[in-house]
Amino acid sequence: MTIAVLTHKPHSYSSIRLMEEAGKLGVDCQLVSFSETALILKEGIVKLKVFHDKGVRKIFSRPKTLLRPILLYALSLTRILEEEGFYVVNPFKGFMNTLDKMITYRNLCMRKLPVPDSILTPSRESVRETPPPFFLKPIYGSRGRGVKLVESVNVISSLEAHGAWVIQAPVRDADWDLRMLVLNGHVLAAMKRVSNKPVTNISQGGLGEAFKGDEEVMELAVNATEALSCVFAGVDISFKNGEAFILDVNPQPDFMGVEEATGVNVAREIIRHMLFKAGE
Ligand SMILES: Nc1ncnc2c1ncn2[C@@H]1O[C@H](COP(=O)(O)OP(=O)(O)O)[C@@H](O)[C@H]1O
Ligand SMILES: [Mg+2]
Repeated sequence: MTIAVLTHKPHSYSSIRLMEEAGKLGVDCQLVSFSETALILKEGIVKLKVFHDKGVRKIFSRPKTLLRPILLYALSLTRILEEEGFYVVNPFKGFMNTLDKMITYRNLCMRKLPVPDSILTPSRESVRETPPPFFLKPIYGSRGRGVKLVESVNVISSLEAHGAWVIQAPVRDADWDLRMLVLNGHVLAAMKRVSNKPVTNISQGGLGEAFKGDEEVMELAVNATEALSCVFAGVDISFKNGEAFILDVNPQPDFMGVEEATGVNVAREIIRHMLFKAGE
């Protein structure tokens, strides 16, 4: 039995760490770039050209990337592999439920999980009419790109055409929020992201620090992950007057900041999960 890691970035830290840990555990693990794969239709027969190794039965998939045709291709390939009977983390449904913040927040709200008050809209008028302060973020994105805290209305002139935004009430009691990594119904690692800027993402200069979570916040992260049908996710949680709110659920979180800050071997736990998942 072989595991495959399917990614757009075979040279990324996460990919390299997964391969390293698979090697240490003696697990056959194949690293495949989406750019090398193909779906071939010939005379009514569908063939997948994905893995060199016929033994692959389990796949750790990271299909999300910028909004380009390759994104749709990668998501569809993830779905097809699942339909073909592979065990895929995350399942296609998990990626669809977290494809943009619109679907994510709606799903969380419907499961009665706390999200900050938000308006999701392509209307620049709505942005203009909302009294600051508010967070303004693209409905689709990651790593804090394009996310800003609007404190006065002037920035609105810089909004690009054809954009769509989340206008969101700020929730922040202190100079930190949380990133919780959830795997298979448990919190694998929890870190504070400390920053003197409004956007705390590690990729934006936030500093990671191990966090000893209380049960309630752990449960919230697990429930958010499950509500979105993900097996593995990075859940961002922030507090207002001590009350927790979910800011974001990311189905392919980076490992680097978390591994460094918490010492948790995220890559090994993922490989172990793929390996020991019941019903191999
Ligand atoms: N409503 C909010 N209140 C406080 N901080 C926020 C809010 N929304 C976003 N942020 C900050 O901006 C960061 C990026 O926003 P997020 O919604 O997670 O987008 P991305 O998908 O780019 O990570 C968050 O991790 C948090 O630090
Ligand atoms: Mg985030």
